[in-house]
Amino acid sequence: MKIIIINGPNLNLLGKREPEVYGSTTFDSYFAELQSKFSELQLEYYQSNIEGELIDKIQEVGFSYDGIILNAAAYTHTSVGLGDVVKAINTPVVEVHISNTHKREDFRHVSYISSGAKGVILGFGLKSYELAIRSFL
Ligand code: DQA
Repeated sequence: MKIIIINGPNLNLLGKREPEVYGSTTFDSYFAELQSKFSELQLEYYQSNIEGELIDKIQEVGFSYDGIILNAAAYTHTSVGLGDVVKAINTPVVEVHISNTHKREDFRHVSYISSGAKGVILGFGLKSYELAIRSFL
């Protein structure tokens, strides 16, 4: 089973970015944990700060992979293009957020991704990604 985690802008800074909101673990070390926990899966990881690159990656994997776990980060709340590509592909997308965006500022309550997603998991810290993987199993 081929699953890819796609992270959007500023998530490359996990570990040093607002640790009180996002924790102090880097995504690279968390991803290594996920790979050993789910060694039976072909688990991949991609991150970009650039909206068009995220769209390109989703188009590239979205007709052949078994699952996409997408944390579009700030683009969640702004990007019609990312919302459209999630609807355009065949691979199911689970939307993930580390923080509970509904407990935060009003602009974070809107998601352009959710209406095309298979489901949404948010607010469980980095564990949200593990829960998303489990949702595909
Ligand atoms: C986030 C929540 C977004 O509102 C924010 O812009 C992020 C991270 C999360 O995982 O909690 O960058 O997607």
